[in-house]
Amino acid sequence: MSRQRLLILITVVLFFLGLVGTGGYRRHQRQAQQSSPRQAYPWEKFIRLNGYWNGVGNLVPFKDYVPEQQSNATAPEPERKHDATSGATPPFDPVAFNPYPEYDSYDYLEAHSPMQKCFLDEAETMSPPDIYAYPGVPQNMTAPFFGSYKELGLAEDVCWERFGRFAPYGYGYDHRDGGVGLSDKSERAGSERVYQMMAGGTDWRKVNWGRAQEACTKKNKARFEPQADPKKKRVSRQAYILRTWTGYRYDDHQLLTIRAMINELNIKSGGEYDVHLLVHVKDTSIPIWTDADIYQQTLEENVPEEFWGIATLWSEQLMRLYYPEPFPDNFDNPSQHPVHSVYRSAHFALQWFSQEHPEYDYYWNWEMDLRYTGHYYEFNDKVANWARKQPRKGMWERSARYYIPEKHGSWADFARMVEEETNLSQESPIWGPTVFPNNGMLTSPAENFPPRSYADDKYEWGVGEEADLITFNPLFDPTKTNWVFRNDINGYTLDAAAPPRRVAIITVSRLSKRLLDYMHNETYQMRHSMFPEMWPPSCALHHGLKGVYAPHPVFFDRNWDLDYMDQVFNRPKKVEDSVFGWGEHNQLGSSFYYNSGFSGQLWRRWFGYKENNEGGSMAEVSGSGRMCLRSTLFHPIKFERGPTD
Ligand SMILES: *[C@@H]1O[C@H](CO)[C@@H](O)[C@H](O)[C@H]1NC(C)=O
Ligand SMILES: *[C@@H]1O[C@H](CO)[C@@H](O)[C@H](O)[C@H]1NC(C)=O
Ligand SMILES: *[C@@H]1O[C@H](CO)[C@@H](O)[C@H](O)[C@H]1NC(C)=O
Ligand SMILES: *[C@@H]1O[C@H](CO)[C@@H](O)[C@H](O)[C@H]1NC(C)=O
Repeated sequence: MSRQRLLILITVVLFFLGLVGTGGYRRHQRQAQQSSPRQAYPWEKFIRLNGYWNGVGNLVPFKDYVPEQQSNATAPEPERKHDATSGATPPFDPVAFNPYPEYDSYDYLEAHSPMQKCFLDEAETMSPPDIYAYPGVPQNMTAPFFGSYKELGLAEDVCWERFGRFAPYGYGYDHRDGGVGLSDKSERAGSERVYQMMAGGTDWRKVNWGRAQEACTKKNKARFEPQADPKKKRVSRQAYILRTWTGYRYDDHQLLTIRAMINELNIKSGGEYDVHLLVHVKDTSIPIWTDADIYQQTLEENVPEEFWGIATLWSEQLMRLYYPEPFPDNFDNPSQHPVHSVYRSAHFALQWFSQEHPEYDYYWNWEMDLRYTGHYYEFNDKVANWARKQPRKGMWERSARYYIPEKHGSWADFARMVEEETNLSQESPIWGPTVFPNNGMLTSPAENFPPRSYADDKYEWGVGEEADLITFNPLFDPTKTNWVFRNDINGYTLDAAAPPRRVAIITVSRLSKRLLDYMHNETYQMRHSMFPEMWPPSCALHHGLKGVYAPHPVFFDRNWDLDYMDQVFNRPKKVEDSVFGWGEHNQLGSSFYYNSGFSGQLWRRWFGYKENNEGGSMAEVSGSGRMCLRSTLFHPIKFERGPTD
């Protein structure tokens, strides 16, 4: 999240950033004692987890792995080969990770038009690189608290370290050879295997992503068109949209991530996705819409050259023209920003983009401060498959809760628990479009009205149906929280109660064309809009669209008691306790929340940097080597560089 809202909390975050590391904790404790004493939050009594820092020297096959939370003195410690200069030698080699369909297989070709292989250059000599994972997990690695690899279908038996993940995109080789360096002081035992498999690596200076991406899509055009042969499935097209802005600094680490996205999502999938940079031009006085040269110059000054061909500019001025005033009947505007500001309507630009690019079936709204250790195609594909399998019955109710497998059991157990709680609740479950008093709404699509009653449905409706909205935090009812923006609603009459709403914190999500069309029409035809985190979920709720929260693995820095965690995150005793309102401090030690402090610490240490005087090259060499994390989605990562020693 790039927006000013973060500033409100920045002091708080800076304070807690220190708390997640022991060194920082002591420093702050002393300060706290000297100045204004602060009561420790209850979760601070849980002990710090350390399994994350276990490196490649401690790798064991997944079948032998015992998570830190379940470890005891009798769990066998892996035998570690150690070399004083290069660190702990990994017990086995990394392997290329391939999450794609078997494009050449008989089964694939029976059901699809053939995938045409794509290249990075016009002459088709530069093949897109693979990435490499270790087939194991460091012994005693911490297990996630929320979400599940198994449930989502993500590989749970591999881990990623910085060479296998990013050397294919330039990590660890010189700028003169088209890389980004960054690994001079890095612990690197075993990394030579990655470079051998990369066979020299790619000179990224030669790549023009716009050209490469377009060529790949064009070559594979037949796969995305309606299929003449009824046995063949059309492959959907998806836009992966990075929300950036003028003045954004593209650090070398960031280049690695964007290259990974384009290579893994577009080039290697035969053009299934297009990666776009949607660039917010903050200075509305630049006449970008008047003069093509000024547009180009603004783009070139604000985006690295290799991405010029995938960038689209927009400005708040354009949004004022596209969605003209008025947006009357505002319930509450705590931020005091105008309705067309990116702060209050970040979705306007996305809606506009979806109308300008109607060729896509799905649009991923992605922020610049997200990072992922795993493979992008695997993540997107598995999350979408999982969402497609979800039945409509209980969907909104399950999506409102964090799934804690060690507490809730299997997904089926969790679904049963939610059903029971729904039965006991006073509220009726969501079933089709929502009816509420209003002074005008668009008609909901006929296919979204339930085919049978809630009681008669045996978890059948919606199974196999693509999700219109996939979020990465729960879809909660803001009236049960004191989330500050819960009443920032426009265009619904003030004579009736506020419409029912849902919110998912952090706007990253996958939205269908259908949902974006509804959001667009509701905006310009009915003058309806809400705060960005609230608008897509609420629009989906009103029109009976399929919205789910995907329970991806989320880690915590401390060993929370799971009963307590379930109570705090899923059943706050009063409105003010909600973890989306004043209880937000409970999220500070998480790997994925909008203001979490632990995410950045974990990510930078994974890259080999020191945090709070811990980690760094020396510690890696004398310890168990560089970190090897399982596929993890991080947010927010505000910066990536740190000291190595
Ligand atoms: C310790 O861990 C091992 C391996 O998970 C397990 O088999 C054993 O039962 C555990 N012992 C105790 C006392 O918890
Ligand atoms: C696993 O981690 C815990 C907590 O950090 C530690 O007490 C234990 O000794 C570790 N076990 C192994 C086998 O490394
Ligand atoms: C919920 O209520 C329905 C209808 O009364 C019943 O069939 C079902 O068994 C209940 N589910 C649970 C988990 O209690
Ligand atoms: C949006 O409005 C346009 C113009 O009236 C209409 O053609 C289209 O079907 C509408 N789409 C949805 C999803 O309501």
